[in-house]
Amino acid sequence: MGLGQVHVIIPIFLFFSFAPYYITSVESLDLDGTLQTNEKDGTLSRSKPFQLNGRIKTDGKGNTISHYAMWHTEPGKFYGLRAEMSIWGSPNQENYQDSGSAIQIYCQKGEHYSLIEAGFHVSPSMYHNRDVRFFTYTTRDTKSAGCYNLQCPGFVPASGAALVPGQAISPQSTYGEADYYARLSLNEDPKSGDWVVYRHDLDRPSFLGHFPAQLCPGKTRILALTGFVNYLKNTHGPPMGSGHFPDDEDDKRSAYFRHIKIYDASGQARDPITTHMIQLVNKPDCYNETDFTVKINRGYVFYYGGPNGCIG
Ligand SMILES: *[C@@H]1O[C@H](CO)[C@@H](O)[C@H](O)[C@H]1NC(C)=O
Repeated sequence: MGLGQVHVIIPIFLFFSFAPYYITSVESLDLDGTLQTNEKDGTLSRSKPFQLNGRIKTDGKGNTISHYAMWHTEPGKFYGLRAEMSIWGSPNQENYQDSGSAIQIYCQKGEHYSLIEAGFHVSPSMYHNRDVRFFTYTTRDTKSAGCYNLQCPGFVPASGAALVPGQAISPQSTYGEADYYARLSLNEDPKSGDWVVYRHDLDRPSFLGHFPAQLCPGKTRILALTGFVNYLKNTHGPPMGSGHFPDDEDDKRSAYFRHIKIYDASGQARDPITTHMIQLVNKPDCYNETDFTVKINRGYVFYYGGPNGCIG
């Protein structure tokens, strides 16, 4: 199989890490709060406590490298997320590289987490070009390979949706000149229990579809917003976001999540004023992010990204 045929998957073998002041709860988090798989045999193993940077395992065959610039919540009773996500192209991306951003819900199910997510990525191996595409992704637990878009039963698109999984989105932001974004939400519908996806940046909120409730069983969830890259081992990483580090916090120069809101049990979007957010950046010399802060005209916001060429 040539590189062109290799689908770069999004592994969810995240090692969520918790800041040192959670030392007292690390034992229980190890038992039910960490997402991890032993690379060799796929079984759960215990994490090293007090790890400051998140660590990513690979696709189980050890072929994929994944890096994240993420902010996530602790495990808890959460009902969803909304954010404006900047749209950046990646015109020189290679077939073995995947780069994008997503809002994610990790749902505790026994000792595993299932994942539902929606976002945008550039994945030449999947789409045979470098368009920025809307995507959805699900996995049932940390041991199974997941499914993109409509590859298997999972996300159910709404009829006549303004954006369907796999659809290209434009325009893209241009560095130093213009930023474009889409505002997406993913939240548990209080009536049906399904996880509904809306796009909010059009004339009126547009229902894109839903993940059936059984894909996110249980009541303990982790909310996450992340820039990500995936690429094959022994190659180099693609750009993340705008392809620039987020140092100057400029909407036209750095990728962002802004106006970040979390949903309550009644389906109301609220500012995450009292929500403790945890940083997960597993390769900061390649891909970094800013603090999770609140800014005038941006709401709760963070910037993320990094250049082409990451090694390792
Ligand atoms: C990553 O970003 C943080 C916060 O902006 C900064 O303090 C840190 O030095 C950066 N790390 C690297 C390796 O550039």
